Amino acid sequence: MTQTSRKILVTSALPYANGSIHLGHLVEYIQTDIWVRFQKSRGHHCTYVCADDAHGTPIMLRAQREGIAPEELVARIKTEHEADFAAFNIGFDNFHTTHSDENRELASLIYGRLKEGGHIATRVIKQAFDPEKEMFLPDRFIKGTCPNCGAEDQYGDNCEVCGATYSPTDLKNPVSALSGATPIEKESEHYFFQLGDFEAMLKEWIHQGHGTSATIQAAIASKLGEWFESGLQDWDISRDAPYFGFEIPGADNKYFYVWLDAPIGYMASFKNLCDKTDGLDFDEYWSADSEAEVYHFIGKDIAYFHTLFWPAMLHGAGFRKPTAVFCHGFLTVNGAKMSKSRGTFVNARAYLDQLNPEYLRYYFAAKLGDGIDDLDLNLEDFSARVNSDLVGKVVNIASRCAGFIKKRFDGKLSPSCSEPSLYEEFVHAGTAIADHFERREYSRAIREIMALADKANVYIDEKQPWVIAKEEGRDQELQDICSTGLNLFRVLMTYLAPVLPDMADKVEEFLNIESLGWHDCAEPLTDHAVNKFKPLMTRVEKEKIDAMLEASKEELTGMTEENKPTEGPLADNPIAETITIDDFAKIDLRIAKIVKADHVEGADKLLQLTLDIGGETRNVFAGIKSAYKPEELEGKLTVMVANLAPRKMKFGLSEGMVLAAGPGGKDLYILNPDDGAKPGMRVK
Ligand code: 2FM
Ligand code: ZN
Repeated sequence: MTQTSRKILVTSALPYANGSIHLGHLVEYIQTDIWVRFQKSRGHHCTYVCADDAHGTPIMLRAQREGIAPEELVARIKTEHEADFAAFNIGFDNFHTTHSDENRELASLIYGRLKEGGHIATRVIKQAFDPEKEMFLPDRFIKGTCPNCGAEDQYGDNCEVCGATYSPTDLKNPVSALSGATPIEKESEHYFFQLGDFEAMLKEWIHQGHGTSATIQAAIASKLGEWFESGLQDWDISRDAPYFGFEIPGADNKYFYVWLDAPIGYMASFKNLCDKTDGLDFDEYWSADSEAEVYHFIGKDIAYFHTLFWPAMLHGAGFRKPTAVFCHGFLTVNGAKMSKSRGTFVNARAYLDQLNPEYLRYYFAAKLGDGIDDLDLNLEDFSARVNSDLVGKVVNIASRCAGFIKKRFDGKLSPSCSEPSLYEEFVHAGTAIADHFERREYSRAIREIMALADKANVYIDEKQPWVIAKEEGRDQELQDICSTGLNLFRVLMTYLAPVLPDMADKVEEFLNIESLGWHDCAEPLTDHAVNKFKPLMTRVEKEKIDAMLEASKEELTGMTEENKPTEGPLADNPIAETITIDDFAKIDLRIAKIVKADHVEGADKLLQLTLDIGGETRNVFAGIKSAYKPEELEGKLTVMVANLAPRKMKFGLSEGMVLAAGPGGKDLYILNPDDGAKPGMRVK
């Protein structure tokens, strides 16, 4: 097959450098990785880059809470992210950081060109300012009473009770979530990107399309229509100090807003790769007249940034625009939003501790289409599907044939193909399957591949090699059937290789072939020696799934914030249900003396406490590391829930819970009662 090789650059959204990778993130990285591996398998020059999104207020505050420099925090998280991605076989060609020289240079270049082009305006705006922390407060860091319905404890930008959206200055009784101080209003000069200058260009760009893909999906196009209708607003791209980011050149103590330099991080990561790779030329991909293709895979929640600001910035700075932006939906687990209390908010690590990453890659592929619908990980369906499709159908083909070839024919396949038309049918099906992959219709591709797997199994069922093997003089027939089986298996694995790279590697080893490149299987393997067959995949075990959910629940006990999806002191406040006085009476609250406090290796938020409750010692893991050093705690008194059922956590058994109060971070207080309190006393 001759098709000219395309030059393609692909990105996934840059994960924030302050939280762990979780299964929700992985929908995107797996979706992108499959597409990239597919393009490479087809012989195209495809490059996949990503980076950590390192800047912004939440990262700065988290580093402060941990008492470390933000650079140290982002370096540590980057190592963790890279390990998680590698374990899921996300094959980035480069994984960089937005806190890099390349990004600083490109951000300043792009900003400079936008300014020169007259697309940057400055205006003085009024903003909430925390007089204690001496910093301007992002909307999410202000809480107060909703101006619309009077609900208390609402965020500065919207009310979770009545759904109203407003500006933080409208909140009644506002308080800073960082210090508890009442914010004051303060003026500051801000820099704005004039998005409206690019309306005509954007309207044209979204209709351009390329090959089989539209520039943006239909659902996103209709959203864009609404945004155009309501008018494109200027975008505030500056933030005042203190801020972790890049200083705006020529501005006094102002920083680029994290979302300004984040997408530039795509270019910066690519630039970093070009600088260490012969023959990869930055301009060939990013100049205004580039013929290369550039695709961004993102979640639907960040479409505004990628389909309006980003192409406008690129265009205004004289660079090419993305070829297309591919949005996907969110992940639900067992039909509901991922939940920490149910244990369905699963971090990459918690999954990897129990399950094979290829199960998840396959399951996501089997469910992904080209739209923005949410994707449900139904854990029963997950096991059933992986066990039936991969273990029961695909691997089964090889395991039914391999033994005979090895034992009876010294590993050699037949000198010629006995079923040329069946083989040809499998190869021919690759055209439609490739088309589905190209259009990101993976579920359709998987359906067709499994239909072929069924066909191969029917062939083996009908030929009954296990019967023939017992009959004299039918050796050639036996070798032919099993060789056909293995050749069909090879074609199937060629199609599945972008989804299952680990299994594909094992299959290459078993079949003794160089690669499972898409076009390599045009001809069957004949007169070819294969290696010993080793198990390629084991069944999903329910116990492992249960253990994963249990471990994900456990990380929450002790009020730890280890798994926050979005960092910041306000992220994910649970809404408490009411309990009766009888429920309350069941809680055995005791004064406890902290006799020992230790760091917990591998836990960012936990301390291990040894508590004396009057002659009895308890071991408790508490999520208070952000507020206390262990040595500050020893000898102090606190209040604990003494009759909480012991829980097995990742780090050991926790036998109770200490009570803490406060907005979080450093401001988390455990009681230190007056003299007179004694370990073991009941708290009334
Ligand atoms: O939403 C997020 O998680 C952002 N960190 C994504 C950034 S994508 C790109 F623009 F850098
Ligand atoms: Zn309200």
